[in-house]
Amino acid sequence: MSLHPETLSAHPPVPEPTGSRPLGVPIYQGHVFGFDNADVMADAFHASDGPFLYSRVGNPTVRALEEAVTRLEGGAAGAAFASGMGAINAVLLGLLRSGDHVIAQRCLYGGTYAVLTDLAERWGVEVTHVSGDDPAEVRAALRPTTRLLYLETIANPTTAVADLPALIAEVADRPDVLSVVDNTFASPLLCRPLEHGADVVVHSATKFIAGHADVLGGVAVFGSAEVHRRVWEHSVEQGASADPFAAWLTLRGMQTLPLRMERQCANALALAERLATHPAVAAVRYPGLPGHPDHATARRLLAGGAGGGVVSFDLAGGREAGRVFIEAVRLASLSASLGDVKTLVMHPASTSHRQLSDDALAAAGIGQGTVRLAVGIEHIEDLWSDIERALSKAV
Ligand SMILES: Cc1ncc(COP(=O)(O)O)c(C=O)c1O
Repeated sequence: MSLHPETLSAHPPVPEPTGSRPLGVPIYQGHVFGFDNADVMADAFHASDGPFLYSRVGNPTVRALEEAVTRLEGGAAGAAFASGMGAINAVLLGLLRSGDHVIAQRCLYGGTYAVLTDLAERWGVEVTHVSGDDPAEVRAALRPTTRLLYLETIANPTTAVADLPALIAEVADRPDVLSVVDNTFASPLLCRPLEHGADVVVHSATKFIAGHADVLGGVAVFGSAEVHRRVWEHSVEQGASADPFAAWLTLRGMQTLPLRMERQCANALALAERLATHPAVAAVRYPGLPGHPDHATARRLLAGGAGGGVVSFDLAGGREAGRVFIEAVRLASLSASLGDVKTLVMHPASTSHRQLSDDALAAAGIGQGTVRLAVGIEHIEDLWSDIERALSKAV
């Protein structure tokens, strides 16, 4: 059939490579897929792993990311989202209903804390916050209506390391209680929460997994296909699915995750050790240092005993010193993110947590002079010169 230009331009050929295959994951940016058979198409509406139908339901590039992170975490199935908060909302909304009770760590990522507060205030979900360092507190908080235990592997900015096996063991005899762990700060390279009894792992892939400050993304990995199905069904309706290009950027970044993580942890340890002896610094919080309250837990849970890529420290000069420090760094950037190849700094008391009263800051474990260093992959001596120079101004 000879076609007219209008038709030819609307129907460019879609190549299906034969005889060779792409080594990199292709970007399937098209949001919709065509079928030859009505029954196959009908089944695709309800299949999380069946033929691709529509990219909100499933997409090959996004699937590649889901499978890659699922393999790293050792899970049964995964789902990728537009952001870490997209993943967290999908898991909470997909698994909870009004009247359910959640036990959550007190020191949570601010966005997660806000969602739980909103679920409590507007949707009748009850939330009990626990310190996260005492398994008996989890046991005491359990109710017949408890459905979720929500933890973070490494907390922000306190760098507390949750004793996942001990905390999760407290709900082991309650199959109706699922354990969800935000593993963003550890990445699957340092910790695989499913091996410690968790049912669901969530990530802000924006951070260590993607690692280059160029994409937002979230992934949830499930220990069972049944729990994945519940969240997937909800998420298709919620519509926070990952965009194929974002998934591709995340996959591209993820290929160097082990190398970046190794360098970030080594840099973080070296900086933590140097900061600990600096006169402008009152205290350093890094799980890789023997003086950290969770050092033994970190050695047991985090691969190679690594303390992660985030160091918090308290400036002796308090709030004003913190502000001076973050404005004085030149190589490191004042930025709200972490897990990037570049080193990023934050002073919660004068930025992200400025609205908190002094008492509320203290309750969250954040000091007036607490600075968070999200350590990158730069050369350690370049980093230290920058930090040392900024410290000299913050005395
Ligand atoms: C531990 C943790 N979880 C979740 C999120 C939310 O991720 P996103 O910004 O990708 O939505 C963040 C963001 O900083 C985080 O630090």
